[in-house]
Amino acid sequence: MPAEWWRDAVIYQIYPRSFADSDGDGYGDLPGIISKVDYLASLGVDAIWLSPFYLSPMADAGYDVADYEQVDPLFGNLDDADRLIEAAHAAGLRVVVDLVPNHTSDEHRWFRDAVAAGPRAPERDMYVFHDGRGENGELPPNNWKSVFGGAGWTRLHRPDGTPEQWYLHLFDVKQPDLDWSTERVREAFDGVLRFWLDRGVDGFRVDVAHGLVKAEGLPDWDVEQAAMLGGQSGPMWDQDGVHEIYRRWRGVLDTYDGDRSLVAEAWVADPSRLALYLRPDEMHTAFNFQFLDCHWDASAYREVITATMASNGAVGAPTTWVLSNHDVLRHVSRLGMADPGSSHEGLGMRDEQPDHVVGLQRARAATLMMLGLPGSAYLYQGEEFGLPDHTTLPDTVRQDPTWFRSGHTRVGRDGCRIPLPWAADRPGLGFSPNGATWLPQPDGYADLALDRQADDPASTWTMYRDALGARRDLGLGGAELTWVDAGEPVVAFDNGPVRVMANILGAPVPLPDGYRVLLSSGPLAGGTLPMDTAVWLSRA
Ligand code: NOJ
Repeated sequence: MPAEWWRDAVIYQIYPRSFADSDGDGYGDLPGIISKVDYLASLGVDAIWLSPFYLSPMADAGYDVADYEQVDPLFGNLDDADRLIEAAHAAGLRVVVDLVPNHTSDEHRWFRDAVAAGPRAPERDMYVFHDGRGENGELPPNNWKSVFGGAGWTRLHRPDGTPEQWYLHLFDVKQPDLDWSTERVREAFDGVLRFWLDRGVDGFRVDVAHGLVKAEGLPDWDVEQAAMLGGQSGPMWDQDGVHEIYRRWRGVLDTYDGDRSLVAEAWVADPSRLALYLRPDEMHTAFNFQFLDCHWDASAYREVITATMASNGAVGAPTTWVLSNHDVLRHVSRLGMADPGSSHEGLGMRDEQPDHVVGLQRARAATLMMLGLPGSAYLYQGEEFGLPDHTTLPDTVRQDPTWFRSGHTRVGRDGCRIPLPWAADRPGLGFSPNGATWLPQPDGYADLALDRQADDPASTWTMYRDALGARRDLGLGGAELTWVDAGEPVVAFDNGPVRVMANILGAPVPLPDGYRVLLSSGPLAGGTLPMDTAVWLSRA
């Protein structure tokens, strides 16, 4: 496989519980993923990223890890993980796993030992324990909030009910934050990295990469903290001390052969701050969330593409494009809203309902624009079917901690985590052998099932497959972008041998002379590029 594969790879995110269920418990699992490896290779991606499948009480769908070196029985066992890595490699796919270093589960033995050891015991140094404020320590140590809603601190009680110290959790109460100033934490994670590197993984997606180090003295924060994700700032995010950790990890990865890599999940709004994570001795890539959060607006796209490529380029790093993942409203839904692209927050039945016909048309155009850009790109499972979110889930089935911790004011992310539709006429749309699904699938998913699209030349699935094939054949991931002026509402650039044009909310524009159409996201009328449509052209 070519060196520095991470510079231009297309990486497919698998959210294991919703991908494919082999045993009929309604949750996807590792054997289910193994059964789809050939499918993924035929789609034409270069790598897969697996969201956490480790031992977990599932308070945050596995982002609350109780043992980093065990597979949760819901998903299988370590042999299954080994078999999956082997099958993926045999099919020519790299494997990236999720690393969750900001917090553990409160059921991790490190936290249990720390609680049992009592205040000021060395075991407590692994986490952010603190005495409370107020006369009897009855007030939290500072005013930080949880990203999911509610307080960011919880007070411990002894078995006899006596209150004692508080612990920090930037996420759920069952996700205590680790203290990365403690060498024992650093050593423990060196071991976790090695454990998975030794098993053959090609890289790690680093969860909450901007959160590991907190400002000295844990000062109060005077701004209403972070609506979920989206350019977080404050004394708990993007502190300079995080970089030392990534230099250390890079040192660990570099002792392995095979070009292993790190991708940062860092919600850092300033592209020049984000680029610091990508210096040559730190991480290799970072998700470009500014691109994901861009309004459906041509000049906004031009700006974001220019700014992020410039700041990453300054440190020699590629840009890593992404439109959907398991934390945000899928781009079909996001771009189908009255103010398209204005928010990635999940939607419920009391909220505005997106227009999924318009949304799909725009999502296809956005995807074709994205896959035409140089750099690497992430796809989120099911986007190749054109899936929207489930925006009318009954509240009774919701599982995202956001829904509970926000006092039922934010529905959270369940709507983008619906089990995939593989076969329209099978129970559970082919997700599981018996039709069981951990969340209900919306009516519209049957028509979008893989078997309704695979042989249809006009389907979204076919567009993804053709775009991935052409992108690889034409070397677009490693080519150079040059802007083309095609009028205000059109994002237009040359990349290698391809001219990419996306008409965003504009009247139809003529296609340039001397070019032929390689791919288009929708029908082209009489030599023009209609509104909300993208094309790839090559010289005739
Ligand atoms: C980001 C993950 O993508 C999200 O799903 C999770 O809830 C938080 N980090 C906390 O781990």
